[in-house]
Amino acid sequence: MIRSIVRGVGSALPRKVMANRDFENVVETSDEWIVQRTGIRQRHIAGEGETTASLGENAARAALDNAGLKPEDIDLIVLATSTPDNTFPATAVNIQARLGITHGAAFDVQAVCTGFVYALTTADLYLRGGMAKRALVIGSETFSRLLDWNDRSTCVLFGDGAGALVLEAGEGAGSVGDRGVLTAKLRSDGSHREKLYVDGGPSTTGTVGHLRMEGREVFKHAVGMITDVIEAVYEKTGYGSTDIDWFVPHQANVRIIDASARKLGIAPEKVVVTVDHHGNTSAASIPLALAEAAADGRIKKGDLVLLEAMGGGFTWGAVLVRW
Ligand code: UT7
Repeated sequence: MIRSIVRGVGSALPRKVMANRDFENVVETSDEWIVQRTGIRQRHIAGEGETTASLGENAARAALDNAGLKPEDIDLIVLATSTPDNTFPATAVNIQARLGITHGAAFDVQAVCTGFVYALTTADLYLRGGMAKRALVIGSETFSRLLDWNDRSTCVLFGDGAGALVLEAGEGAGSVGDRGVLTAKLRSDGSHREKLYVDGGPSTTGTVGHLRMEGREVFKHAVGMITDVIEAVYEKTGYGSTDIDWFVPHQANVRIIDASARKLGIAPEKVVVTVDHHGNTSAASIPLALAEAAADGRIKKGDLVLLEAMGGGFTWGAVLVRW
């Protein structure tokens, strides 16, 4: 059986760092409120010349280096983003061109904060279906450019950045002991679409628009949706929380992360948390966290890694990977 095996991981962050205190001159807020309610202390904000494509390219190059591969080895690029450089073409083809790749296929996947989980699941199906041999799966976002900087309930929450995985098709036994993507579960429910959305777009206002969120409403649904989809992954694989080596959740709010881990019975020392220094980077948050935990030696070959995300749509999902 073909498995999509992780060969490399990398990330890229904008140069500029914005601390909570830097918001105190922008809106009526405080470092204390932001830390208590979200766990966020700082985030990176894209500057001039830094875009979703440039950050995605840098993350992809770092992942290729980590894998010991060259751009021409890649025949599939799946980019998760809700902040494309242009309405079209897909930002994935921009990254493809920046990498000098002219073969294979590249496209974007849009599932907001769940984007990386959707992109990874998509790439896994392409590799297992024999459509491609080596894929770059990238999450890259410049959410700072969608924010209403007068809205304190949203502008303090988000940051910019990118992360990437290199996946390679390899032989597995077909058992859950294999390396690679073991299973994935995706969900969406569009009846919640107005709880977290952007109030513009090419087909409606002809503008880019700004992010709008009923934070409390999103919060209310998050833990239940996350834990449900993870229970479905456990059911499919026979694994449970005590088998997981690393839990790498989407990084929106440390209270959501802690409550989900607690409900699932995942020990706090197995949870990878980056929201304190990255903020919520939407589709980039999981690969940014994976890159950090792999670089510092926490995530090692053979480890069982559980990924999950929930966000706009609502969309939500989980993927179980043996590193
Ligand atoms: O990644 C996609 C998914 N997104 C999420 O998962 C986000 C989910 N939601 C959340 O993380 C939380 O709901 C927030 C962090 C957005 C808000 O935390 P909360 O504990 O739900 O606070 P709240 O919205 O109930 O607001 C409490 C108070 C309000 O004042 P009143 O009405 O109680 O007087 C807000 O106006 O906090 C006020 N407030 C602020 N105060 C200082 C809202 N934003 C701020 C702010 N600084 N930045």
